Amino acid sequence: MSIERVGVIGGGLMGSGIAEVCARAGSDVIIHEIHAEAAEAARTRIELSLERAVERGKLESAERDSVLGSINISTDLSDQGDRQLVIEAATEDEGLKKQIFADLDTVVPPEAILASNTSSIPITRIAAATTRPTHVVGLHFFNPVPLMGLVELVTTVMSSPDVETTVQAYAESLGKTVIRAKDRAGFIVNMLLVPYLLGAIRMYESGVASREDIDAGMRLGANHPMGPLELSDFVGLDTMKHVADVLFDEFKEPFYASPPLLTRMVEAGLLGRKTGHGFYAYD
Ligand code: 3HC
Repeated sequence: MSIERVGVIGGGLMGSGIAEVCARAGSDVIIHEIHAEAAEAARTRIELSLERAVERGKLESAERDSVLGSINISTDLSDQGDRQLVIEAATEDEGLKKQIFADLDTVVPPEAILASNTSSIPITRIAAATTRPTHVVGLHFFNPVPLMGLVELVTTVMSSPDVETTVQAYAESLGKTVIRAKDRAGFIVNMLLVPYLLGAIRMYESGVASREDIDAGMRLGANHPMGPLELSDFVGLDTMKHVADVLFDEFKEPFYASPPLLTRMVEAGLLGRKTGHGFYAYD
């Protein structure tokens, strides 16, 4: 099956990025949002990102207009009824995601594929909320979606090989490299990345080095684009803690445990860039 009509559930940071890359690859996209203000915010986010792409010479103005024209935003889930692939990028809440998948299952045609961008919830549990577990996979994008070259394709013991092939081909058509993982907490990237970030927080908490030196160490000593504390702020400290908790729950390894400093910062509402304050302050 060649995928031309895509749905995206949730137009937040990840959902709007996913919608943008799908539309830029030529798909007709309908984003589902919960209310009109959220829909407006999603539209603005996409417009700004496309504007940046034009300014950086990555996109022609005419192409920007046609990309914008191929993205519709709706607050009515039944508008997803003709989609061939729906990618869910809602809040990381298992109950909410299961409900969305159960609802989508009644709306989209039986052959449609449902994917979740979850970074932490087992795909098997989400798939079990539908009557089509063979057609449910994980499709994990990275932030910022238009700039990051990777997608993790996560399959379960129930996934159909044809569905896996179709989704892999579609993700590749977005210009992404696809890596494949079984349905285990953290998949590939977060399983390796999160303990590294937690290690940097522990190092900072124990006073071994300043936040600036820890970040400069990994930026200049390992050529990472961002140091680990900057990257934690970028990912969001609540998201980091959530993924760490899920990893700890699954594997019970101490290096996945959230350091007390991370826990206290999340409790204090210091969530990184999105709240203007994390390990660093932001305008
Ligand atoms: N569309 C297309 N291209 C764009 C663009 C847009 N909207 N905006 C910028 N670009 C291009 C620029 O032209 C530039 O291209 P060039 O290299 O050919 O000149 C390139 O993208 C980089 O742009 P910038 O100069 O604006 O950005 P920086 O060089 O400052 O890099 C960054 C920004 C890409 C965010 C970089 O700091 C980075 O890679 N950081 C790490 C991000 C990361 O690790 N993300 C993963 C987080 S983990 C995750 O998401 C998983 C979750 O489950 C937790």
